[in-house]
Amino acid sequence: MHISAAVGLLTSFALALAKAAPSPEHVLTPGGYRPRYTVHAIPAGGSLAHSGSEIQVLAANGSIVTTAVHPSNPKTSAPRTRALETDGWIAYAWWLNPGLAPISSFTTTWEVPPVPATDHGQTVFLFNGLQPNGSSAILQPVLQYGPSNAGGGSFWAVATWYVDGTGHAFFTTPVPVTTGTTLDATVTLTGTNGSSSFSYNSQFSNIPGTSMNITGVPELTFAMETLEAYGVTAISDYPAGFTVFSGIDLRLVEGATPSMSWSFEDDMADGVLLAVDKDGPTDAQMTITY
Ligand SMILES: *[C@@H]1O[C@H](CO)[C@@H](O)[C@H](O)[C@H]1NC(C)=O
Ligand SMILES: *[C@@H]1O[C@H](CO)[C@@H](O)[C@H](O)[C@H]1NC(C)=O
Ligand SMILES: *[C@@H]1O[C@H](CO)[C@@H](O)[C@H](O)[C@H]1NC(C)=O
Ligand SMILES: *[C@@H]1O[C@H](CO)[C@@H](O)[C@H](O)[C@H]1NC(C)=O
Repeated sequence: MHISAAVGLLTSFALALAKAAPSPEHVLTPGGYRPRYTVHAIPAGGSLAHSGSEIQVLAANGSIVTTAVHPSNPKTSAPRTRALETDGWIAYAWWLNPGLAPISSFTTTWEVPPVPATDHGQTVFLFNGLQPNGSSAILQPVLQYGPSNAGGGSFWAVATWYVDGTGHAFFTTPVPVTTGTTLDATVTLTGTNGSSSFSYNSQFSNIPGTSMNITGVPELTFAMETLEAYGVTAISDYPAGFTVFSGIDLRLVEGATPSMSWSFEDDMADGVLLAVDKDGPTDAQMTITY
């Protein structure tokens, strides 16, 4: 896959290792293949609290379910996994906040496509998401076809994921959705504490059970719209036709909208095209054609 300069800074390490076949104990996430023990379910109503080198999974009542230690702490942590993998990113668009006020919300609407005509065990992810500059993590409401470590199969399902670039991945329980369902995907800034600790919510606002709160993360400055896929062996492994990401809105703190345009990449070799139909910060639209 051709990687642009902007996204290249995120991924050079990932690309060097991305072609290595996953070992059996690795499982699929929207951040690529990872050791199974670094991928965690969040219980219904639960949340994530990021503090120092730890990410705690909290139950709905606030009790700690799991403490995941970031690999930057070599004594106590899991072995380092590779950086957030974008090798599976087939078509994507992005905008990096150049230092304006923080992004306060990022919304995108799309319809659940038909199930792919063929099933070769492939996994297809469609999402919008926000990352910190440097791509060490991503918070993303994800539509998934096919298997991942969250579950899934030969049907579409939605879940919110927080994938820490070099460490752990966390997901809400996938909720099956049917073709034609409209998805309203949001990532929202819910609070700040000083200049380096931000709290967010991400969910499909019209699908109960997909909401994830996370506290104590760096500012999320990099907005993405993405088609990601693994194990595709034929164009019919994608849904037929096209996916339209519409109503794409980027708001900044204090209600401003940035003066911006979307950059994008697609992959002719995969037979997948991305077009920006309507550019800009509000009500933008993109079409991915399979
Ligand atoms: C997230 O935070 C909001 C606001 O504090 C709260 O209403 C909601 O129940 C929390 N949990 C989830 C899973 O969204
Ligand atoms: C909080 O929720 C967890 C997980 O559901 C449960 O095991 C625990 O007993 C609860 N604690 C309290 C104090 O209710
Ligand atoms: C993003 O990170 C790069 C590399 O650290 C840095 O050069 C750049 O200034 C950062 N951009 C913003 C907008 O923070
Ligand atoms: C805000 O950050 C300070 C310093 O890290 C910490 O002591 C305090 O508990 C934080 N407040 C909240 C509400 O998280």
